[in-house]
Amino acid sequence: MARSGKRKKPEELRSYQWYGVNDLHGFGHRSRTKQMGYAKEDFAGKPVIAVINTWSEINQCHSHFKQRAEEVKRGVWQAGGFPVELPAMSLSEPFVKPSTMLYRNMLAMESEELLRSHPMDGAVLMGGCDKTTPALLMAAASMNIPAVFLPAGPMLRGNWHGNTLGSGTDTWKYWAELRAGTITQDDWEEIEGGIARSPGHCMTMGTASTMTSVAEALGMTMPGAASIPAADSNHPRMATASGRRIVEMVWQDLKPRDIMSLKAIENAIVTVMTLGGSTNAAIHILAIAARNGHEIDLELLDKLSRTTPVLADLRPSGRFLMEDFYYAGGLRGLLNRLRDHLHLDCVTANGKTLGENLDGAEVFNDEVIRPLSKPLSDEGGLVVLRGNLAPGGAVIKHTAADPRFHKHAGPAVVFDSHMDLLKRIDDESLNVTADSVLVMKNAGPVGGPGMPEWGMLPIPKKLLQQGVRDMVRISDARMSGTSYGTCVLHVAPEAFVGGPLALVQDGDMIELDIFGRTLDLKVSEAELAERRKRWKAPKPHYPRGYGWMFTQHIEQADKGCDFDFLRSAEAMPEPEVH
Ligand code: FES
Repeated sequence: MARSGKRKKPEELRSYQWYGVNDLHGFGHRSRTKQMGYAKEDFAGKPVIAVINTWSEINQCHSHFKQRAEEVKRGVWQAGGFPVELPAMSLSEPFVKPSTMLYRNMLAMESEELLRSHPMDGAVLMGGCDKTTPALLMAAASMNIPAVFLPAGPMLRGNWHGNTLGSGTDTWKYWAELRAGTITQDDWEEIEGGIARSPGHCMTMGTASTMTSVAEALGMTMPGAASIPAADSNHPRMATASGRRIVEMVWQDLKPRDIMSLKAIENAIVTVMTLGGSTNAAIHILAIAARNGHEIDLELLDKLSRTTPVLADLRPSGRFLMEDFYYAGGLRGLLNRLRDHLHLDCVTANGKTLGENLDGAEVFNDEVIRPLSKPLSDEGGLVVLRGNLAPGGAVIKHTAADPRFHKHAGPAVVFDSHMDLLKRIDDESLNVTADSVLVMKNAGPVGGPGMPEWGMLPIPKKLLQQGVRDMVRISDARMSGTSYGTCVLHVAPEAFVGGPLALVQDGDMIELDIFGRTLDLKVSEAELAERRKRWKAPKPHYPRGYGWMFTQHIEQADKGCDFDFLRSAEAMPEPEVH
């Protein structure tokens, strides 16, 4: 570890097994590297650094990664390392169907095995679009060679006619205006051209900004990295600095599991809460923790949510965007205000503690980053619910819910699937009132499949016309980090595998109590037992292939949706090189 002062010798490098050994195989590795135009001086005795690049021509959020990879490599060369770019699966949130969540574990597995099977001593992990960040952090934990995460950075603020536009949130807002006839089709097309103005990930506090901030709070990035807009020239400079730093991390043998301690995981949870971050973080943090050998549960998130004030006034919970957050002092400024809630002694990627990295960080705008005396809310935005409808737990972002639904009982209006909901939700004859509880089944990890972000169920049109804007909605799906409303999400176990959600029928009374942290189906045990006997498991989605493997091995939301065979923190054998 860094603080021991011990340094690796060149013959202790992992890559030495490939390049340093004077046998037939060593000859092969050296001659084939020379085939690519490198001289022995380029690689011999140097840390080999993987630059895991999730660039693709259909990942809008990573469109600058070709250039950034070069900037990372510049840093690696400067510090005396040998950079090797390795392309990995690129998960573009809008384009990958049915859900990027179907492929988070695949990217994690691919990245881990890319590192294991090649002569890599360390890695710079390039991600940002929602699932890429947790996937790469999971891979880093499992492979456990020195690694630093390079966040893609948020895109610039959107703009239309001088109005600021935020990813996701304003798409829905103006879509509603278009349907209401208050803007024209021409306006809508102009918004289409103004809402995403630069490279970078979504610039609201959605899942991308939440998870890159998690990476920084964990200590897996250079300090300040998560808040820099992708288009700012500080971003390439940070990329080069990450490249320089990873070489030193290899010599110091500072590894992901030295960094992602249980205390660092708690820091990450506190960070999500003070940012008013995405509910998706609940799933990803559980998975990252387990890969590092920490078996935490949802209750830890609920506990830290109760004691953490929301200080970031960012959309969708607040008013501003990531560009404003950066100018206001960014994550370092925010966390410096929250020092008393953090474990400041955690070591981070630059070899310093979190506390040392926060020293001197200022806030330049108290509107964007509130003082502790004036929080946006006294508690974080995540509540964990349990009850006979969600024995494994469910979550709700209660700060985005109408307070009158914080305690509510109403009759269920049930949809068997997302497709069923789309077909019937606007049906005039649907037996629904503002007090009803909308229930959607079979949208969980196995049922979705891949737990799509369908959890903000639409309000039925006839209620919209009556002025209804929020209702209690329950599903085993996820919800975009930019969504809002009284949406109970991640119900576990999910309906598709026979969780109690599968047994709900139209008219059943459901009781939600956010204060008491409960979610209950008011149907007798005897009746539920009868229904369970009659319940038939739905037909599996996939007969073969990755989808089949996914549905056989995916864990439920309360465990982080990892594959059961990837979850363990057990050490893996190194490949036989000779
Ligand atoms: Fe990539 Fe939102 S689409 S982060």
